[in-house]
Amino acid sequence: MEKMATILVIEDEAKMARLLELNLAEAGYATRSAADAESGLKILRQEKIDLVLTDLKLPGMTGLEFLQAAKRADTHLPVILMTAYGSVETAVEAMKAGASDYVLKPFSMEEIKLIVSKELESRRLREENRSLRDALGQRYEFKNIVGRSPAMQEVLATVERVAPSNATVLLGGESGVGKDMIARAIHEHSRRAAGPFVKINCTAIPENLLESELFGYEKGAFTGAVASKPGKFELAHEGTIFLDEIGDVPGTTQVKLLRVLQEREFERLGGTKTHKVDVRVIAATNRNLRDALEEGTFREDLYYRLNVVPISIPPLREHKEDIPYLADLFITRFAKDSGKAITGITPAAQRLLSDFHWPGNVRELENIIERAVVMAAGPKLDVADIHLDVRRAGASPGPTTGAAFPPPGTTLEQFEDEIIKEALRRGGGNKSQAARLLGLSRNALRYRLSKIGVPDEPDSAG
Ligand SMILES: Nc1ncnc2c1ncn2[C@@H]1O[C@H](COP(=O)(O)OP(=O)(O)OP(=O)(O)O)[C@@H](O)[C@H]1O
Ligand SMILES: [Mg+2]
Repeated sequence: MEKMATILVIEDEAKMARLLELNLAEAGYATRSAADAESGLKILRQEKIDLVLTDLKLPGMTGLEFLQAAKRADTHLPVILMTAYGSVETAVEAMKAGASDYVLKPFSMEEIKLIVSKELESRRLREENRSLRDALGQRYEFKNIVGRSPAMQEVLATVERVAPSNATVLLGGESGVGKDMIARAIHEHSRRAAGPFVKINCTAIPENLLESELFGYEKGAFTGAVASKPGKFELAHEGTIFLDEIGDVPGTTQVKLLRVLQEREFERLGGTKTHKVDVRVIAATNRNLRDALEEGTFREDLYYRLNVVPISIPPLREHKEDIPYLADLFITRFAKDSGKAITGITPAAQRLLSDFHWPGNVRELENIIERAVVMAAGPKLDVADIHLDVRRAGASPGPTTGAAFPPPGTTLEQFEDEIIKEALRRGGGNKSQAARLLGLSRNALRYRLSKIGVPDEPDSAG
């Protein structure tokens, strides 16, 4: 058994402080308490404290200032903030300043005890990881993820820091930069790794369907609901839910999402029973959500709820140092898959890759290497094997470039469908590429494809 952890409680309200102390003592922790941040810092200097629970609003120095001072002294000290409902923005700042987690008042003692024990456990794991890493002398590394460049190291450092917490993460970045990959990495490095990882793409689905996917429905909720069905939130219980393309969620659904994020509870469509779930939320978007905020299409409160830990993944052209390593990874992977004895890449071909601007980011690099491996004759990929899509370098071609004039009797819809299919053929079946040819977002394209019956990749992760 571990030795007793000591928790410092900083709370100016005496009754609240007492309540916390009693409950934490009952849960087997030693406690120390301070009525303001200054005395809290003094205790930190003099005693060994394992975790701090501090109010955000304090007389004199604020909880946020305390956090910054405490982090300067010991970057690894877990600090949990207690904050009044409504000050989520400050909570966002606090997470950026290094708080481990935050709880909104009013909270239950059960909630506090749960957060404290999770935080202490994750600190123990982090310490283990750290000593292991120190012993090996390596930096942030994740299996199957290339990221040696400073830009990616920063991303991976954040991933490592937030993965063990329950904090909501908002992933941003252009199409193909690795948002899905990072979402999974966070799940796999969290304490929920043994639980489910459930993905839902919020774009490709019409509004009412989106809600029944998210929250489930009861038998008879609508025509066709012949049996009850749980939604993705229920399926993600004790695991992680990944809300992809969050920027496309319609207004009414945003309200429902907000409630789940705040209360972790919801009802199935057509149901009255309130379901409680324990889920970690990761959301992703390739749009700038701030624009959507300004346009009024995205709720501000939801944005702040989601943007607790923002991670912005840089486009490939901003971390070209990683290209050779990415190329290596993909060559090895596809050579193995295709059973071809390809051992590497010539310096000239490597240069070609490094000089390209990669509008489709890592996904495009991956696709091009896959094709090159299939085509390659020699043991090393050479310039002739690499087919970059240089046409895209300039302005995007109009959607109707080269499309046959519609034969008489064709409806506008049929004509559109044809153009979409043609774009898909030209893009070699690659949806991102087709979307770019059409000047559509990949998700707008997915939606159209689903309408004309072209199957899309499944939503849930296996
Ligand atoms: N740093 C990386 N190391 C290794 N593979 C990567 C890296 N970044 C991306 N990939 C690979 O590139 C492909 C595209 O990544 P992913 O699907 O995660 O992108 P995305 O940002 O979710 O794209 P979209 O916005 O279109 O959904 C995946 O096969 C992924 O494994
Ligand atoms: Mg994705």
